Amino acid sequence: MSLIDAYGRIHTDLRVSLTDRCSLRCSYCMPAEGLPWLPGEAMLSTPELIRLVGVAVGAGISTVRLTGGEPLLHPDVLEIVACIAQLPERPEVSLTTNGIRLAGLASQLADAGLRRVNVSLDTLNRATFVELTKRDRLVQTQAGIKAAQLAGLHPVKVNAVLLRGINDHQASDLLYWALSEGVELRFIEQMPLDPQHGWRRDQMVTAAEILQRLRSDGWRLEPDPVRGNAPAALWRIDGGPEAVGIVASVTMPFCGDCNRVRLTADGQWRNCLFARDEADLRTLLRQGATDADLLAVMRAETAAKRPGHGLAEPGFEQPERPMSAIGG
Ligand code: 5AD
Ligand code: SF4
Repeated sequence: MSLIDAYGRIHTDLRVSLTDRCSLRCSYCMPAEGLPWLPGEAMLSTPELIRLVGVAVGAGISTVRLTGGEPLLHPDVLEIVACIAQLPERPEVSLTTNGIRLAGLASQLADAGLRRVNVSLDTLNRATFVELTKRDRLVQTQAGIKAAQLAGLHPVKVNAVLLRGINDHQASDLLYWALSEGVELRFIEQMPLDPQHGWRRDQMVTAAEILQRLRSDGWRLEPDPVRGNAPAALWRIDGGPEAVGIVASVTMPFCGDCNRVRLTADGQWRNCLFARDEADLRTLLRQGATDADLLAVMRAETAAKRPGHGLAEPGFEQPERPMSAIGG
């Protein structure tokens, strides 16, 4: 019954991109002028989206993460959360957000059945935030994090990408802040998913470098042996219980343990962030496909998943779509 691939990986985690639009312009994700957004008629309607997620949940998906772009820009986000959370199989629903609209929505999201949020925040310095995101919204993001904690969306995880010469010297500040606020910080290696194709492996701040930097700033870090399918390797601080995550997507890929599949805002099923192909569920659905037809396509596309993203291999090509259209 489950969504399994040729390497025996069972897929239980679905990432759903609600929109490719965003209220920020993080340099590693979007050019300052934005991108050619998906046209309205290509976007799944809310009933279409809920139907596709329902079919996937019926095939063993147990966790659904709403992403974007910025998922809180979707006008029906509360209804979407509620409908997914109330599916008979009761999947766990979480959301990855830049936090800007979170202060106003956190308690309603929690009431709708949202379990957790991940907030993207790369700096605590206002000038760096503006440089990195092209918007002066640090205060809103921080207010969003507070509101999520107050609403019981626990634990709040904060994702940070370090960029050389911009915020890579702020890793310790972020960690100190995360501990004092009670949020779980995870550093993520920058992946080649930017539409500008500006990613250079030799420019990337690696997991090893982040660890070394934190240690030289005086943090005592020991590896936590338990990782499971979670991509963040956890490092216990001073013997724990506090920890910091470092996601080495590029230098230590965890593709062998991957349990994720993706649905884009325009209804394409992807078996990997870096997939070169996608299956067009939207067209099938609009042509009157049954749930069984849709499931067959989800299964076939999942089965065809490659063993790994191949980032380190010579012929690696970046996917055509940027991260904001695929769903982070
Ligand atoms: N590499 C790594 N992480 C990225 N994100 C967006 N683009 C990239 C990239 N190229 C992160 C965001 C957010 C999450 C959805 O993915 O910072 O936390
Ligand atoms: Fe928006 Fe996230 Fe991309 Fe930043 S990384 S521009 S917050 S979608």
